[in-house]
Amino acid sequence: RLQVEVLADAREIGRRGADVVAGELLAGRLRVLGVATGSSPLQVYESLAARDLPGWDGVEVFALDEYVGLPAGDRASYADVVDREVRAPLGVDPARVHVPDGRADDLDAACDAYEQALVAAGGVDVQVLGIGATGHIGFNEPGSPFSSRTRVVELTPRTVADNARFFASADDVPRRAITQGIATIARARRHVLIARGEGKAEAVRAALEGEVAPDCPASALRTFEDVLVLLDPAAASLL
Ligand code: GLP
Repeated sequence: RLQVEVLADAREIGRRGADVVAGELLAGRLRVLGVATGSSPLQVYESLAARDLPGWDGVEVFALDEYVGLPAGDRASYADVVDREVRAPLGVDPARVHVPDGRADDLDAACDAYEQALVAAGGVDVQVLGIGATGHIGFNEPGSPFSSRTRVVELTPRTVADNARFFASADDVPRRAITQGIATIARARRHVLIARGEGKAEAVRAALEGEVAPDCPASALRTFEDVLVLLDPAAASLL
């Protein structure tokens, strides 16, 4: 079941996304939260933090992805972003926060370890997602097989350009990342995908109305069991 809601703005979207996550938490069904970085889900985390809910210290948090090769403590690394934007505001136990290790000597082994940690935690209960202009979810760029697992990927020039705003210059953006695969993401029990702005309109159209195929990785959402898509009017403008 995939449900689409068009809401007025980032605040409304944040509130609605937070309602889903909070509902699961208060029902005792949120053992593992999957988080996306980027600007889209920020208001979800803010709205959750403002509610002062009990129980966050027991929740495991898994990030979708991480750049390869950024030094420890780099503000643009997703380990840092998740710490700043999710762990600290919600009060999650630092020992329960998981981000792929983009600094490992053996990156393939780090990917396998991440898959195993996800399974050991019992899988993701609610996965928050953004979407890239290329139609990526996590860092699964066009062509990513729906059967893909956590692995090292190359970023497209478009994604490098889009993410340059988080770095001093485009030259500083890593060209590779570790990302959960489409099949990894698919295993979550519920998904909430958020997209805002005109720049996402075409990717949203392709994901929801185009062919279900690896050309648009986010189209895989239409094969998932329980998906809520939250859009602002600009992101929904081509539907
Ligand atoms: C990034 C992340 C994705 C994120 C997407 C959209 O590259 N790897 O997980 O969903 O791009 O980012 P934003 O929400 O800032 O547009």
